[in-house]
Amino acid sequence: MSKKLGLTAAGAVLALSLAACGGEGAGSGSSGSSDKAAEDLSIGVSMPTQTSERWIADGNAVKKQLEKEGYTVDLQYANDDIPTQTQQVDQMITQGADALIVAAIDGTALSSQLQSAADADIPVISYDRLIRDSENVDFYVSFDNFAVGVAQANALLTGLGVKNDDVPEGTETGPFNVELFAGSLDDNNAHFFFDGAMSVLQPLIDDGTLVVTSGQTKIDQVATLRWQQETAQKRMEDLLTGSYNDGTLVDGVLSPYDGLSRGIITALQNAGYGPTTEGGAQPMPIVTGQDAEIASVKLIDDGVQSSTIFKDTRLLAEQAVIAAKAFLSGDQPEANDTETYDNGKKVVPSYLLPVQTVFKDDIQSVLVDSGYWTAEEVTSGQAG
Ligand code: GAL
Repeated sequence: MSKKLGLTAAGAVLALSLAACGGEGAGSGSSGSSDKAAEDLSIGVSMPTQTSERWIADGNAVKKQLEKEGYTVDLQYANDDIPTQTQQVDQMITQGADALIVAAIDGTALSSQLQSAADADIPVISYDRLIRDSENVDFYVSFDNFAVGVAQANALLTGLGVKNDDVPEGTETGPFNVELFAGSLDDNNAHFFFDGAMSVLQPLIDDGTLVVTSGQTKIDQVATLRWQQETAQKRMEDLLTGSYNDGTLVDGVLSPYDGLSRGIITALQNAGYGPTTEGGAQPMPIVTGQDAEIASVKLIDDGVQSSTIFKDTRLLAEQAVIAAKAFLSGDQPEANDTETYDNGKKVVPSYLLPVQTVFKDDIQSVLVDSGYWTAEEVTSGQAG
């Protein structure tokens, strides 16, 4: 008995000292990798696309932070193509990944890959977008996605002057003509964003403050497959020709993502909305966004787009790395939400980060002072 205790204690001391010198040897893990040093562990990072800056920033931040911990990183982008992503994840598994961090294109398309991962004892961290319909999702790192939608709706109202401390009570009563956009239906987040936004907007639609001229208020009517900018531009063009051809003006557009916002803004500009300095031009409607992509931050700085929601990808990457480290050390990562994210098979323990709304006046304090973008990048609208 005493010998066993002594051995256990010695094991604990060894584990602690390994942990203290940066090795990942402590504990006995679900990954089966807990006896290896970080240098001998490789982590597969699967990201959806490089067509959006945010995922490039996410990929870079995750890679950089994992490498700082000593891990080998296999970072792959799937070009928004589901078979490419399934193939890349398959390959990560066959090449012996010790953990996976995955931002899925289609939240339901990876079940068989995740089964292989589970069979090989590889922990899976779902990154920003929840992977659905699989038991084999071990952890979820994201933002408070319902709160994102609420913030977008509030930003729309603030821009319109419906809810704005600077606007005297009763000055702006509407009705305001608005149109609604949602993200890709196969992305779990799109539903959270839309539900969050509608929790704020629906009562104002019901009381007539907001008028959705097209009548399109259901998520499947307003969704945008793969979050494509061109698709949003096309839908906005169709809305303008279909519902605003009698001189009715658009006052605001709920857009859940900066890429969509840019498509929407292009359609509005092509239809004559824009700066009012030139006679006859109609004011640009209030357009919301998300991700603080640099091209959109410039548009906000220029007074074209009204707002975005900033989600600090550096902090998200940090949480993904903390979770991966925990699994590879044989521990469970610490969740701050164990109720919200039911993926259809189980409630996935989650770590959710807060978000910040950014209007023009917030660019300096929120995005530049924090080092997310430099003042030069904001002016040029280009990263780097
Ligand atoms: C969502 C993500 C948003 C936005 C969008 C389009 O899953 O939460 O921040 O990036 O995808 O890429």
